[in-house]
Order: sequence, then structure tokens, then C-alpha cells
Amino acid sequence: MLYSALLRPLLFKLLSPEQAHDLIMGGLQFASNSALASAALRAAFGSIPSAPVKAMGLEFKHPLGLAAGMDKNAVALRAWESLGFSHLEIGTVTPRPQSGNPQPRLFRLPEDEALINRMGFNNMGAEAAAARIRSSRHQSIIVGGNIGRNKTTPNEGATEDYLEALNALYSEVDYIAVNVSSPNTPGLRDLQSAGSMRELLLAVCTEAKRLGGKPVALKIDPDSDKDHVQRTAVLAVECGVQGIIATNTTIGRTGLSTPEGRLQAIGAGGLSGSPIAKRSTEVVGWVREAVGQSASIVGVGGVRRAQDVTDKLNAGADLVQVYSGFVYAGPAMVRQLSPAWKL
Ligand SMILES: Cc1cc2nc3c(=O)[nH]c(=O)nc-3n(C[C@H](O)[C@H](O)[C@H](O)COP(=O)(O)O)c2cc1C
Repeated sequence: MLYSALLRPLLFKLLSPEQAHDLIMGGLQFASNSALASAALRAAFGSIPSAPVKAMGLEFKHPLGLAAGMDKNAVALRAWESLGFSHLEIGTVTPRPQSGNPQPRLFRLPEDEALINRMGFNNMGAEAAAARIRSSRHQSIIVGGNIGRNKTTPNEGATEDYLEALNALYSEVDYIAVNVSSPNTPGLRDLQSAGSMRELLLAVCTEAKRLGGKPVALKIDPDSDKDHVQRTAVLAVECGVQGIIATNTTIGRTGLSTPEGRLQAIGAGGLSGSPIAKRSTEVVGWVREAVGQSASIVGVGGVRRAQDVTDKLNAGADLVQVYSGFVYAGPAMVRQLSPAWKL
């Protein structure tokens, strides 16, 4: 309440989206390093009804987690747990650090409760993320490591990048998410073609097995048609993937209330938030139809209210994640959405 009435209007008015993101992340990092601040967050927001979910062979307290991209460098694990999330996906992490695209690269679309971003995998690199998790791994939140390739690595060398990131993160995370669906790294989505996908997923799943068998998930885009989505999902399961994360952001711009001129001024990037809810949920349904019970599904895209969580679960998702909705809803979001899994 305080957030939407006071803090959000101030943040939106005074700070650019990336400045606001950095400020909030700084606060959450501080809270993560302070037992007192973590306890205060937990007391204020973190009392969440549990509804255990088994997915990808792991036990989650309830379905709702934080999607990749918010805490790329794993700086605030304890704070996310205190806010009530059952899991978070750190990253996307690339083997070597990279600064991402030039700013501005993150935009608010308040009329649509949406965001557009072209961050371009700005991150401190896989070793740094692993070290961060290692030093703060005294909580029970489930951590997924979302991995990608560096911008300067051509697709022909992508598999080596994914394996390097996997090896750096493996012992610190509970599952691995292979991101081939970001629209902001040139050529990345080409890895979703059948030949490249098979080579990449076989290599990652074989390596994960060799290292000890932690589950691997694949994150897909919302822009492919039903046939492509279903073929990709079946191929992924054949390669040994245990989870499909649907979906990343869209390159589409349909059905928005934001004026066309503003969209033109923003330019390229992935759209997230409320406008992608319907399509992402549809993709969840396509994946479930294609893979049956042979893989777990994480539904992500446009979750803002409890009904959005219910829609994803009804479409076949085992778990649900959120990014943009959190920017609009604020720290009480997990509690606000919990009626979706409260029996
Ligand atoms: C600013 C921003 C950065 C993101 N970065 C990543 C990323 O690095 N890796 C990734 O897999 N997804 C990334 N995403 C996509 C989200 O994880 C999620 O799939 C997408 O935003 C849809 O969910 P939402 O509508 O709840 O935001 C990012 C999204 C936003 C808004």
C-alpha cells in the first residue's frame, strides 16, 4: 500500500528506471548482509502460506519465484527469501563480465504496467556470481543459475560459453537455466533452431550429469508459433532437460495503450509485464500439451495479480515467476499473490 501510494510515484518521478533498479538492489543487498534488516523485511512481508511444489526434482515452498534479470549478480539472496519468494533465478550470467548495451536501456510503460529493456546481459561474470552465492549461502531459498553466452562469442562458439558458465556456477546453484531466448544479444535466438538447440542442450545436460546431475531448464521466447514451441519443448526433453521456462520478453508491440510515438522513441528491446501475460500463459499450455508430465514448467510473463498466477497454474505451470509485476506491485507482492496457492 505504502509502496504504490508513496514510494513508487517517487521512484518513477525522480529516478530513471535503471537508477531506481540500482537503488532498490543496493537496499536489498544491504538488507541481505544485515541480520536485523532481513528479519525486519521478513516480519513485514515474508509470512507466506506454504504450498509445497515438487518440480525439476526439487522441493519448493510454494510456486512463486523471482525471474532472471532482476538480481543478475546474486547480491541479495537473503532479502529475496525474506520477501517470501520460494526461489530466484540469478543471471543471466555469461562466462566473462560484460557491461551490456549503452544506456538508456530500460524503459517504463506505466499505462500498460509494462517494461521494455535492451540490457544486453550486463553482468559481473560467472565466477563473481558464484563467489557471491558461496558467501551468502546460509538460507533455504532455491537458486537457479541462468546462463548465456557473451556478446562477442559467435554462435559457433556458444556451447563452450554455456559450459564455462555452467562449470563456474554448478556447485552454488540448485538448477541451471539455459537462456537462448533473450532478444537483446544479437543472434542469440538463432540458437533455438533445431540443430543448434540439440548440440547445445546435449552438451549442457551431459556436463550437468557429469558434475552430479542437477536439473537443467530451458527458457523459451513468446514469439515462436505453436508448432515451433512444441517441437523445441519435445527436443529439449529428449536432450535431458527437466524444466521449460515460458517465457522470456517479446519483441512484439501489439495491444499496448502506450502511444505509438513513445514506443518509436524507445526503440528496440524486449517487452515484459501485463501485456505479455496472455501469450506467455498460452505458451505454457502449448508446452504442457507437448511434453505431458515429462518436464516441469515455469510460467513467467505478465504476472501482476493472484489471478495471473492461477491462470499460469491452470494452464499447466508447476512454478510461476515474476519480474515486471514486482516493479509495479512492490515488496508485498508475494503475500498479495499468495491467495493463488492458499488452500
Ligand atoms: C530489465 C529486465 C532484464 C531481464 N533480464 C533477463 C536476463 O538477463 N535473463 C533472462 O532469462 N530473462 C531476463 N528478463 C526476462 C524476465 O526474466 C522475464 O522472463 C520477462 O520479463 C517476463 O516476465 P515479467 O512479465 O514478469 O517481467 C529480463 C526482464 C527485464 C524486465
